[in-house]
Amino acid sequence: MSEATQQRILDDLHAGTVIADTEQYAANIQADHQTVVGAMKSLERYPEMITTKPFDKTLVSLTEEGLVTVKEGTLDARIFNGIDKTNGTTLAELTARFGPATGQAQGRAMKNKWIRLDKASGKLFRAVETIVDEAQQQLAAIQAGQTVPDSALAELRKLKLAASRTYTAYAIGKGDKFSTKIVKPESDLTTAMLTKDAWREVTFKDKNLKALGAPTSGGYLHPLLKVRTQFRNIFLEMGFSEMPTNNFVESSFWNFDALFQPQQHPARDSHDTFFIKDPSTSTQFPEDYLKRVHEIHEKGGYGSIGYRYDWSRAEAQKNILRTHTTAVSTRMLYQLAQQKEFKPVKYFSIDRVFRNEALDATHLAEFHQIEGLVADRNLTLGDLIGLLSQFFKKMGIEKLRFKPAFNPYTEPSMEVYSYHEGLKKWVELGNSGIFRPEMLRPMGLPEDVSVIAWGLSLERPTMIKYKIDNIRALVGHKVDFNVIRSNPICRLDH
Ligand code: PHE
Repeated sequence: MSEATQQRILDDLHAGTVIADTEQYAANIQADHQTVVGAMKSLERYPEMITTKPFDKTLVSLTEEGLVTVKEGTLDARIFNGIDKTNGTTLAELTARFGPATGQAQGRAMKNKWIRLDKASGKLFRAVETIVDEAQQQLAAIQAGQTVPDSALAELRKLKLAASRTYTAYAIGKGDKFSTKIVKPESDLTTAMLTKDAWREVTFKDKNLKALGAPTSGGYLHPLLKVRTQFRNIFLEMGFSEMPTNNFVESSFWNFDALFQPQQHPARDSHDTFFIKDPSTSTQFPEDYLKRVHEIHEKGGYGSIGYRYDWSRAEAQKNILRTHTTAVSTRMLYQLAQQKEFKPVKYFSIDRVFRNEALDATHLAEFHQIEGLVADRNLTLGDLIGLLSQFFKKMGIEKLRFKPAFNPYTEPSMEVYSYHEGLKKWVELGNSGIFRPEMLRPMGLPEDVSVIAWGLSLERPTMIKYKIDNIRALVGHKVDFNVIRSNPICRLDH
């Protein structure tokens, strides 16, 4: 219905019809004014299709009394006519005939000097021969569709003979993008429109430039990064400085041999370690140091009897993905030992390591290690326990237990356990120890310098913190980005 009217308006405008007043236009096309206005409003949604200009119109109509007046004259005139020309008539008689409004009408007729009151008889008499009933004429004119002066209309309204109502009509014209075809405007500019140059002809929907954009979905921190920041802060608060961990590929020498890890050790097997195919070997080593490492493995020294096997340089040269960040600690300790004068250091690192592991819910072939070390003269196991207590206390963990363990490069070694209030059991947090002289002395560190160190994974506390029970939900292609987006900031303290 409205669509037909819309089309009619467009066709008429196209044909040259001037629509100066929608009401008149509606009458011309025999449609309801509301239908025309509705169709016009629909057309206004297409930008610059049509122009519209509203203006007020007043509709004047006759009241019931007004209709009677057109036929019989105003009450004033009826009273005039009702008065006996020669004998006069009393007001009571007139009121009985014309009703309760007679009194007022009589007053107006007196004021107009149509009638007069004879004081002697108390009767009303006609004062003139004939009268002109202007109000009746004006009402008749209104009924005939003519306009009357505003002052007259105001008077008629006051007498409740006429009523008026104001409403809005419109002038409609052609817009800059006028067309007789209604084409739905496009909301988006497409590649096709651009390449075919079609955008010039297309009408676009108006854009709301004040609308807020869709929330961006990028830039969220992964839980591992949040927890890493917390650990980094703990180390920094404790005065540790960060080691450079940007080498994922390491030689077996720095990852194992320098740590006094024998070449037959099962960890050096391809079942546990990823070996690099290309380049498969490293060739640059500090040769004198390499020689001392070679000797400590084969023959021992500094009070150790060594492992007593034929150490192979080729084995040490093999490139691997580092299996622990202790390879980085080792390089840093070697550099420290090259300093003219020994100065105590506190180092930490948090980065990725790789192990050729069977994958399951809690193991991946790569994970992050958190590692800390302190090198100073005469450090003891007591220092290590104190340090670990302080470190974990900063994470809100106070109940610690230490269990003797074995590492090829530390002696003594301790696994660190904490009581997990949620799980109601002791859980392993990490590994620690004092680096062996077989590792430190070939580097050239003074005899009284000991290095205490510990390491743990970043994934474990993250999974506990964010209540994730499958590592695949945290790392890899099965990660749900909504979880990453919505997980809260990390605070490790209490
Ligand atoms: N490198 C050990 C690991 O991979 C952790 C560790 C670091 C142990 C330092 C003792 C000292 O588990």
